[in-house]
Amino acid sequence: MSKKLMLKNIEKAQQEIDRKTEVVKQGRMRQHYHFMAQTGWLNDPNGLIFYKGKYHFFYQYNPYCGFWDYIHWGHAVSDDMLHWEYLPIALAPSEHYDDHRKGGCFSGSAIEHDGKLFLAYTGTTNNGNGFEQTQCIAYSEDGIHFEKYDGNPVLKAPEGVPADQFRDPKVWEHEGTYYMVCGASRENRAQALLYRSTDLIHWEFFNVLAESRGEWGSMWECPDFYPLGDKYVLMFSPMGAGERTAVYLVGDFDYETGKFTCQVSGEMDWGFDFYAPQSFLAPDGRRLIVGWANEWDWMPFWKDWGPTYREGWCGSFNIPREVLLTEDGDLQFVPIREIETLRKNTSFVESMVVSGEEQELQAGDGVSFEMKMKINLERATAEQFRLQLRCGEGKKTVCLFDFKNAQMSVDRNEADGWSRGVSRSVMYLQGKKELDIHILSDQSSLEIFTDQYRNNHSVNVFAGDGQNQILVSAAGGTVILEDIEGYGLTECNR
Ligand code: FRU
Repeated sequence: MSKKLMLKNIEKAQQEIDRKTEVVKQGRMRQHYHFMAQTGWLNDPNGLIFYKGKYHFFYQYNPYCGFWDYIHWGHAVSDDMLHWEYLPIALAPSEHYDDHRKGGCFSGSAIEHDGKLFLAYTGTTNNGNGFEQTQCIAYSEDGIHFEKYDGNPVLKAPEGVPADQFRDPKVWEHEGTYYMVCGASRENRAQALLYRSTDLIHWEFFNVLAESRGEWGSMWECPDFYPLGDKYVLMFSPMGAGERTAVYLVGDFDYETGKFTCQVSGEMDWGFDFYAPQSFLAPDGRRLIVGWANEWDWMPFWKDWGPTYREGWCGSFNIPREVLLTEDGDLQFVPIREIETLRKNTSFVESMVVSGEEQELQAGDGVSFEMKMKINLERATAEQFRLQLRCGEGKKTVCLFDFKNAQMSVDRNEADGWSRGVSRSVMYLQGKKELDIHILSDQSSLEIFTDQYRNNHSVNVFAGDGQNQILVSAAGGTVILEDIEGYGLTECNR
């Protein structure tokens, strides 16, 4: 009976998608090369995996409208993470443990086991005693059609952890044993709980992998844990930790005790729109992450989710990024090199002197483009360098490199008549000869990577096609820009 119910709910959702896809496709704010759902609402990336020769992305999905509600798992496959084929919805709410309208099939991960594709996800329900989150399993023979495990849920919140604060299982395998890390809250402090299993069905508690003492918030959403070089990385999206949206800790892990100790911490992205990143391995060994390019209403800087609900959709993913470990044990987040295959209409300027007067730079159509440049720090006399993106019709987004105050900021208060806020980060330039800047602009998002991909800002801006100018200027002196590369990017989504 219940197997039939999930199929029925998938069928119903699928009809809704089919009915709306062509209209939603016409939306003015639709992205050109970032991943989106066909229709409706999308949040976290889930179940990212390279399986049977394709990249599989699943996603938190409400096919019925452009707002969060009644969460399904959408599903798409790709050869390059840029061009996508949408598959049928993988999971729909259908069981007593995952069927609430304000719940459903929450975030989780994918892993191959016994030749099958397994999904670990959080079932969220409310049977009259408040919201309850439990960890559940589903599997598939063909990687397309999934069945929920009859014995679900496989894991409930342990004592001391509120039933509505236990979610987002990330599963991996190490030397024949499966491990799962879940986000939790205990006495209002965030924890990453570690479990282990031999069959993905029976789980035993292993240890508290890591926890907040208040400094990292009260709840960790979407924790992820993986080896990188000779280190381990723990990533999470903290609730109750101010403006932080995606934190990483780098340190050591002991499989004997199940304890992680961290030496380095940092922010994956300082912008407003980078949340709940999940990692996975590409077949060539790259550790890649994908984040959700939006914000939650409980965040201190939140205004709303943007105007795209009017077009029948909301949400896209940030461009996938490769995680690299630096010699000093820190991390870099570099856009996947596959993006280079989209480049067209190249422009190049070897060197340019920038002063008080605004000058224009070229990159593609000024809307969907990639741009790289370097600031020669040894020859810079200016106090500030201003880079204005998506300018036109009296609007602009201003990236300010303030050398005097060692601060980088992205101001979207005049971006589109809709968005608000200034994201800020410290610009640490001591002893450096140049500052590298790499920009990815799409119809409704900007991603700005600087300082060897350690200081990154992702922000959404809902700017029209007439906003297509790129302007630079300097204050208090001059700046020399070098190796300015501009590229148009080929459309992937239409
Ligand atoms: C993170 C999150 C997860 C949860 C999901 C619900 O963005 O809040 O913790 O599983 O979204 O859609």
